[in-house]
Amino acid sequence: MKQPSVTIIGSGNVAFHLGIALKESGFPIVQVYGRRMERARWLADKVSATPADSLSDIHNGADVYFLAVSDDAIESLSQKLKLPGKVVAHTSGSQPTPSLQTVSARTGVFYPLQSFKIGRKVDWTHLPILLTGEDEVLAKLFPLARALSKHVAVITDAQRSALHLAAVFINNFTNHCFTIAREITDDAQVDFSHLTPLATHTVKQALEHDTRDLQTGPARRNDLQTIRHHLSLLADDPALKAVYESMTQHIQTYYDKA
Ligand SMILES: NC(=O)c1ccc[n+]([C@@H]2O[C@H](COP(=O)([O-])OP(=O)(O)OC[C@H]3O[C@@H](n4cnc5c(N)ncnc54)[C@H](OP(=O)(O)O)[C@@H]3O)[C@@H](O)[C@H]2O)c1
Repeated sequence: MKQPSVTIIGSGNVAFHLGIALKESGFPIVQVYGRRMERARWLADKVSATPADSLSDIHNGADVYFLAVSDDAIESLSQKLKLPGKVVAHTSGSQPTPSLQTVSARTGVFYPLQSFKIGRKVDWTHLPILLTGEDEVLAKLFPLARALSKHVAVITDAQRSALHLAAVFINNFTNHCFTIAREITDDAQVDFSHLTPLATHTVKQALEHDTRDLQTGPARRNDLQTIRHHLSLLADDPALKAVYESMTQHIQTYYDKA
Protein backbone atom coordinates (compact mmCIF):
# COMPACT_ATOMS: atom_id res chain seq x y z
CA MET A 1 0.00 0.00 0.00
CA LYS A 2 1.25 3.51 -0.83
CA GLN A 3 2.46 5.36 2.24
CA PRO A 4 0.88 8.80 2.85
CA SER A 5 3.21 11.67 2.01
CA VAL A 6 4.07 14.43 4.45
CA THR A 7 5.05 18.10 4.39
CA ILE A 8 6.86 19.54 7.40
CA ILE A 9 6.36 23.18 8.29
CA GLY A 10 9.21 24.21 10.57
CA SER A 11 12.90 23.40 10.69
CA GLY A 12 13.62 23.29 14.43
CA ASN A 13 14.06 20.47 16.94
CA VAL A 14 10.76 18.63 16.41
CA ALA A 15 10.67 19.22 12.65
CA PHE A 16 14.14 17.68 12.44
CA HIS A 17 13.46 14.58 14.55
CA LEU A 18 9.95 13.98 13.18
CA GLY A 19 11.07 14.48 9.58
CA ILE A 20 13.96 12.03 9.93
CA ALA A 21 11.84 9.43 11.80
CA LEU A 22 9.03 9.59 9.22
CA LYS A 23 11.46 9.33 6.31
CA GLU A 24 13.21 6.35 7.95
CA SER A 25 9.79 4.70 8.38
CA GLY A 26 9.14 5.00 4.65
CA PHE A 27 6.89 8.08 4.47
CA PRO A 28 7.87 10.36 1.56
CA ILE A 29 8.55 13.93 2.71
CA VAL A 30 7.37 16.33 0.00
CA GLN A 31 8.36 19.78 1.29
CA VAL A 32 10.11 21.33 4.29
CA TYR A 33 9.25 24.93 5.13
CA GLY A 34 11.55 27.21 7.13
CA ARG A 35 11.39 30.98 7.18
CA ARG A 36 15.13 30.97 6.45
CA MET A 37 15.93 29.15 3.19
CA GLU A 38 19.29 27.97 4.50
CA ARG A 39 17.56 26.10 7.40
CA ALA A 40 14.77 24.76 5.18
CA ARG A 41 17.31 23.42 2.68
CA TRP A 42 19.46 21.90 5.42
CA LEU A 43 16.56 19.78 6.70
CA ALA A 44 15.01 19.19 3.26
CA ASP A 45 18.30 17.70 2.06
CA LYS A 46 18.32 15.26 4.99
CA VAL A 47 14.81 13.98 4.20
CA SER A 48 14.99 14.20 0.38
CA ALA A 49 12.32 16.92 0.19
CA THR A 50 11.99 20.28 -1.57
CA PRO A 51 12.76 23.30 0.61
CA ALA A 52 10.46 26.34 0.83
CA ASP A 53 10.94 29.65 2.63
CA SER A 54 7.61 31.18 1.69
CA LEU A 55 4.25 29.89 2.89
CA SER A 56 2.80 30.66 -0.55
CA ASP A 57 5.15 27.96 -1.95
CA ILE A 58 3.55 25.23 0.21
CA HIS A 59 1.44 23.27 -2.29
CA ASN A 60 -1.29 20.73 -1.69
CA GLY A 61 0.71 17.76 -3.02
CA ALA A 62 1.14 16.01 0.36
CA ASP A 63 -1.42 14.00 2.31
CA VAL A 64 -0.52 15.16 5.83
CA TYR A 65 0.97 18.50 6.98
CA PHE A 66 2.82 18.88 10.27
CA LEU A 67 3.11 22.34 11.76
CA ALA A 68 6.18 21.99 14.00
CA VAL A 69 6.78 25.66 14.80
CA SER A 70 6.96 27.59 18.10
CA ASP A 71 3.68 27.57 20.04
CA ASP A 72 3.26 31.31 19.64
CA ALA A 73 3.63 31.08 15.85
CA ILE A 74 1.04 28.35 15.25
CA GLU A 75 -2.04 30.54 15.07
CA SER A 76 -0.50 33.39 13.07
CA LEU A 77 1.08 30.98 10.60
CA SER A 78 -2.18 29.07 10.24
CA GLN A 79 -3.96 32.23 9.21
CA LYS A 80 -1.60 32.51 6.24
CA LEU A 81 -1.95 28.86 5.16
CA LYS A 82 -4.85 27.40 3.20
CA LEU A 83 -4.86 23.64 2.69
CA PRO A 84 -8.53 22.74 2.22
CA GLY A 85 -9.27 19.03 2.56
CA LYS A 86 -5.77 18.22 3.85
CA VAL A 87 -4.99 16.74 7.25
CA VAL A 88 -3.02 19.35 9.20
CA ALA A 89 -1.62 18.68 12.67
CA HIS A 90 0.52 20.72 15.01
CA THR A 91 2.94 19.13 17.48
CA SER A 92 2.37 21.36 20.50
CA GLY A 93 1.50 20.12 23.97
CA SER A 94 -0.18 23.35 24.96
CA GLN A 95 -2.03 24.72 21.92
CA PRO A 96 -5.64 23.63 21.42
CA THR A 97 -6.89 22.06 18.18
CA PRO A 98 -8.96 25.12 17.12
CA SER A 99 -5.73 27.15 16.65
CA LEU A 100 -5.51 25.47 13.21
CA GLN A 101 -9.12 25.80 12.14
CA THR A 102 -8.47 28.39 9.39
CA VAL A 103 -6.06 26.08 7.48
CA SER A 104 -8.34 23.14 6.85
CA ALA A 105 -11.47 21.52 8.19
CA ARG A 106 -9.42 18.37 9.00
CA THR A 107 -7.04 19.36 11.79
CA GLY A 108 -5.56 17.62 14.79
CA VAL A 109 -2.61 17.33 17.11
CA PHE A 110 0.34 14.94 16.93
CA TYR A 111 2.14 15.52 20.24
CA PRO A 112 5.32 13.52 20.81
CA LEU A 113 5.86 13.66 24.57
CA GLN A 114 9.63 13.82 24.76
CA SER A 115 12.34 16.46 24.93
CA PHE A 116 13.83 16.97 21.45
CA LYS A 117 17.09 18.68 20.63
CA ILE A 118 18.87 18.58 17.28
CA GLY A 119 22.03 16.55 17.79
CA ARG A 120 20.59 14.50 20.70
CA LYS A 121 19.52 10.98 19.70
CA VAL A 122 15.85 10.07 20.19
CA ASP A 123 14.51 6.53 20.51
CA TRP A 124 10.97 6.61 19.12
CA THR A 125 10.13 2.95 19.93
CA HIS A 126 8.26 3.67 23.19
CA LEU A 127 7.95 7.42 22.90
CA PRO A 128 4.35 8.47 23.69
CA ILE A 129 2.64 10.02 20.67
CA LEU A 130 -0.58 11.62 21.84
CA LEU A 131 -3.19 12.36 19.19
CA THR A 132 -6.19 14.68 19.27
CA GLY A 133 -8.78 15.17 16.53
CA GLU A 134 -11.97 13.98 14.91
CA ASP A 135 -12.16 10.30 13.87
CA GLU A 136 -11.44 11.05 10.20
CA VAL A 137 -8.25 12.93 11.16
CA LEU A 138 -7.19 10.29 13.69
CA ALA A 139 -7.56 7.64 10.98
CA LYS A 140 -4.83 9.47 8.99
CA LEU A 141 -2.55 10.30 11.93
CA PHE A 142 -2.75 6.94 13.70
CA PRO A 143 -0.81 4.87 11.09
CA LEU A 144 1.98 7.45 11.01
CA ALA A 145 2.22 7.48 14.80
CA ARG A 146 2.15 3.66 15.01
CA ALA A 147 4.91 3.39 12.41
CA LEU A 148 7.13 5.41 14.76
CA SER A 149 6.10 4.18 18.20
CA LYS A 150 4.34 1.39 20.10
CA HIS A 151 2.93 3.99 22.55
CA VAL A 152 0.13 5.87 20.79
CA ALA A 153 -2.97 7.21 22.55
CA VAL A 154 -5.87 9.53 21.80
CA ILE A 155 -6.45 12.32 24.34
CA THR A 156 -8.46 15.55 24.57
CA ASP A 157 -7.10 19.11 24.36
CA ALA A 158 -7.57 19.49 28.15
CA GLN A 159 -5.74 16.22 28.89
CA ARG A 160 -2.84 17.20 26.64
CA SER A 161 -2.63 20.59 28.29
CA ALA A 162 -2.45 18.95 31.75
CA LEU A 163 0.22 16.49 30.58
CA HIS A 164 2.23 19.35 29.10
CA LEU A 165 2.10 21.26 32.38
CA ALA A 166 3.20 18.11 34.25
CA ALA A 167 5.98 17.59 31.68
CA VAL A 168 7.29 21.11 32.29
CA PHE A 169 7.74 20.20 35.98
CA ILE A 170 9.25 16.77 35.26
CA ASN A 171 11.62 17.77 32.49
CA ASN A 172 12.14 21.53 32.10
CA PHE A 173 12.16 22.46 35.80
CA THR A 174 14.13 19.36 36.80
CA ASN A 175 16.70 20.10 34.11
CA HIS A 176 16.99 23.64 35.45
CA CYS A 177 17.43 22.25 38.98
CA PHE A 178 20.38 20.26 37.63
CA THR A 179 21.78 23.47 36.13
CA ILE A 180 21.44 25.22 39.51
CA ALA A 181 23.12 22.27 41.25
CA ARG A 182 25.98 22.37 38.75
CA GLU A 183 26.45 26.14 39.29
CA ILE A 184 26.54 25.58 43.07
CA THR A 185 29.10 22.76 42.87
CA ASP A 186 31.19 24.63 40.26
CA ASP A 187 31.27 27.72 42.51
CA ALA A 188 32.39 25.56 45.47
CA GLN A 189 34.89 23.68 43.26
CA VAL A 190 33.53 20.33 44.30
CA ASP A 191 32.98 17.50 41.82
CA PHE A 192 29.36 17.38 40.53
CA SER A 193 29.67 13.60 40.05
CA HIS A 194 29.39 13.10 43.85
CA LEU A 195 25.67 13.79 43.21
CA THR A 196 25.27 11.21 40.44
CA PRO A 197 24.13 8.26 42.65
CA LEU A 198 21.58 10.52 44.36
CA ALA A 199 20.27 11.77 41.02
CA THR A 200 19.96 8.23 39.65
CA HIS A 201 18.29 6.99 42.84
CA THR A 202 15.82 9.92 42.84
CA VAL A 203 14.57 9.25 39.31
CA LYS A 204 14.46 5.46 39.77
CA GLN A 205 12.50 5.74 43.02
CA ALA A 206 10.15 8.37 41.60
CA LEU A 207 9.23 6.04 38.73
CA GLU A 208 8.77 2.98 40.95
CA HIS A 209 6.90 4.49 43.93
CA ASP A 210 4.42 7.21 44.82
CA THR A 211 6.69 10.26 45.30
CA ARG A 212 4.35 11.61 48.00
CA ASP A 213 5.73 8.83 50.25
CA LEU A 214 9.36 9.61 49.38
CA GLN A 215 9.80 13.29 50.24
CA THR A 216 12.76 13.97 52.56
CA GLY A 217 14.91 17.04 53.23
CA PRO A 218 14.93 20.08 55.52
CA ALA A 219 11.53 21.38 54.34
CA ARG A 220 9.84 18.01 54.98
CA ARG A 221 11.50 17.66 58.41
CA ASN A 222 10.95 21.33 59.22
CA ASP A 223 14.68 21.74 60.04
CA LEU A 224 14.57 25.52 60.34
CA GLN A 225 18.26 25.97 61.16
CA THR A 226 19.31 24.16 57.99
CA ILE A 227 16.82 26.15 55.92
CA ARG A 228 18.17 29.42 57.37
CA HIS A 229 21.74 28.27 56.61
CA HIS A 230 20.85 27.47 52.98
CA LEU A 231 19.14 30.86 52.61
CA SER A 232 22.27 32.57 53.94
CA LEU A 233 24.34 30.74 51.28
CA LEU A 234 21.98 32.18 48.66
CA ALA A 235 22.05 35.73 50.06
CA ASP A 236 23.89 37.08 46.98
CA ASP A 237 21.33 35.61 44.61
CA PRO A 238 17.87 36.94 45.53
CA ALA A 239 16.15 35.28 42.55
CA LEU A 240 17.45 31.81 43.48
CA LYS A 241 16.77 32.49 47.18
CA ALA A 242 13.14 33.21 46.23
CA VAL A 243 12.96 29.88 44.34
CA TYR A 244 14.34 28.02 47.40
CA GLU A 245 11.87 29.79 49.72
CA SER A 246 8.96 29.13 47.40
CA MET A 247 9.77 25.39 47.00
CA THR A 248 10.38 25.04 50.76
CA GLN A 249 7.09 26.73 51.56
CA HIS A 250 5.24 24.61 49.02
CA ILE A 251 6.60 21.36 50.49
CA GLN A 252 5.75 22.49 54.05
CA THR A 253 2.20 23.52 53.16
CA TYR A 254 1.66 20.38 51.06
CA TYR A 255 2.57 18.03 53.95
CA ASP A 256 0.87 20.18 56.61
CA LYS A 257 -2.38 19.61 54.74
CA ALA A 258 -1.76 15.87 54.30
N1 LIG B 1 11.41 20.44 21.60
C1 LIG B 1 10.63 19.69 22.31
O1 LIG B 1 11.11 19.04 23.23
C2 LIG B 1 9.16 19.54 21.99
C3 LIG B 1 8.52 18.35 22.38
C4 LIG B 1 7.19 18.14 22.02
C5 LIG B 1 6.52 19.14 21.31
N2 LIG B 1 7.15 20.31 20.98
C6 LIG B 1 6.39 21.31 20.23
O2 LIG B 1 6.80 21.29 18.86
C7 LIG B 1 6.76 22.62 18.32
C8 LIG B 1 8.13 23.01 17.81
O3 LIG B 1 9.02 23.00 18.91
P1 LIG B 1 10.61 22.96 18.66
O4 LIG B 1 11.23 22.56 19.94
O5 LIG B 1 10.91 22.21 17.42
O6 LIG B 1 10.91 24.50 18.46
P2 LIG B 1 12.23 25.15 17.86
O7 LIG B 1 13.34 24.18 17.79
O8 LIG B 1 12.41 26.43 18.59
O9 LIG B 1 11.78 25.47 16.36
C9 LIG B 1 10.73 26.34 16.12
C10 LIG B 1 10.53 26.49 14.64
O10 LIG B 1 9.48 27.45 14.45
C11 LIG B 1 9.92 28.43 13.52
N3 LIG B 1 9.21 29.68 13.77
C12 LIG B 1 9.09 30.33 14.96
N4 LIG B 1 8.34 31.44 14.79
C13 LIG B 1 8.00 31.48 13.47
C14 LIG B 1 7.25 32.38 12.67
N5 LIG B 1 6.67 33.48 13.19
N6 LIG B 1 7.10 32.10 11.36
C15 LIG B 1 7.68 31.01 10.82
N7 LIG B 1 8.39 30.10 11.52
C16 LIG B 1 8.56 30.35 12.82
C17 LIG B 1 11.42 28.54 13.77
O11 LIG B 1 12.04 29.16 12.70
P3 LIG B 1 13.54 29.78 12.86
O12 LIG B 1 14.45 28.57 12.93
O13 LIG B 1 13.69 30.59 11.65
O14 LIG B 1 13.54 30.58 14.15
C18 LIG B 1 11.75 27.04 13.89
O15 LIG B 1 11.80 26.43 12.64
C19 LIG B 1 6.22 23.52 19.44
O16 LIG B 1 4.84 23.63 19.30
C20 LIG B 1 6.57 22.74 20.71
O17 LIG B 1 5.69 23.04 21.77
C21 LIG B 1 8.46 20.53 21.30
